[in-house]
Amino acid sequence: MKESLENLKNSALQEIRTAGGFNSLEELWRKYLGRNGQLRNFSIKIKDMTPQEKAEMGRLINEVKNILESTINNRKNDLSVADSRQVDDLPDLNLNLTDQTIKLGHLHPHTQMKMRVADIFHSMGWQVLEGPEVENEHYHFDVLNIPANHPARDMWDTFWLNHQPSKNGRLLLRAHTSAMQVRVMEKQKPPLKVCVIGKCYRHEATDARHEHSLYQIEGFVVDKNVSVANLLHTLKTFLHYLFGRDVEVRLRPSYFPFTEPSFELDFSCLRCGGQGCPVCGQSGWVEMLGCGMIHPNVLRAAGYLPAGRQVQPQYTGFAFGIGLDRLVMMRHKVDDIRWFNGGDLRFLRQF
Ligand code: DAH
Repeated sequence: MKESLENLKNSALQEIRTAGGFNSLEELWRKYLGRNGQLRNFSIKIKDMTPQEKAEMGRLINEVKNILESTINNRKNDLSVADSRQVDDLPDLNLNLTDQTIKLGHLHPHTQMKMRVADIFHSMGWQVLEGPEVENEHYHFDVLNIPANHPARDMWDTFWLNHQPSKNGRLLLRAHTSAMQVRVMEKQKPPLKVCVIGKCYRHEATDARHEHSLYQIEGFVVDKNVSVANLLHTLKTFLHYLFGRDVEVRLRPSYFPFTEPSFELDFSCLRCGGQGCPVCGQSGWVEMLGCGMIHPNVLRAAGYLPAGRQVQPQYTGFAFGIGLDRLVMMRHKVDDIRWFNGGDLRFLRQF
């Protein structure tokens, strides 16, 4: 009986080791270890044996049972490892969930332009500042030669804040970054080369060219012997770096309370090269910014010029103000300023 148990073990092991799949292993388990399997016959037969023989055969039968069981399990493991290797080779089986990719955002076109402009001014040795969005009447109007009740205040449709006025007057949301001029002049001594890039707010109806929230770039220089020639050269250099080519510009006389003389600067239309097209209204020129020589009253408010009309200024300066939205619109041929704050991803994803 021991011998036939040994034979059974050997042939079973042989079959298990060569079994080709899970089904045949299940089959072998039933054949040898199952309720009606071949090992069970041995267990039945030992009933009639002496207790001593019974104990010995029982132990041998258990041993064989354990060996067969563990061999079947090992073989199953081997097969499943081999199976998973094959998965890689299957051409059409994709175990990824679809459309779980993380969509990365990117910088808003305003931000991209802000960084670009800041880079250019930094490279020319200027400071680049931001300044407060909540301003007071003093820095926003009074020191810029726009006293209370002066009609020029109407040039800026202002959002006033419901706040107790301080010694610097009422609070407001700044409508232009020019409000930083005297703030900086009071804190620092000339020579000054300063660029302020920041958000401004205007209480006005929106249309394709006007927004209630916009970005402005204010630039100003204060030093000895500053002239309109310096202003022109600076702006041409800025435009050259911004658009990557030389740009023709022209100055037209204009009015701003804080500059004298004041100009509007136009440049020749980049789209048609000055020939005339819909972008420049067929004129060949595009309006770009306001600028001028800093008014003596502004220098006086900053403490750079003593009171009295006939005093020769020790310092002079120029200033300019550019709409940043305008620059982005020209660069990317955007036809409506309201796209920028509209939050439409179909628009924003293009930049
Ligand atoms: N602050 C003006 C505005 O908001 C723009 C401007 C014009 C700024 C002329 C200047 C300047 O510095 O010289 O319309």
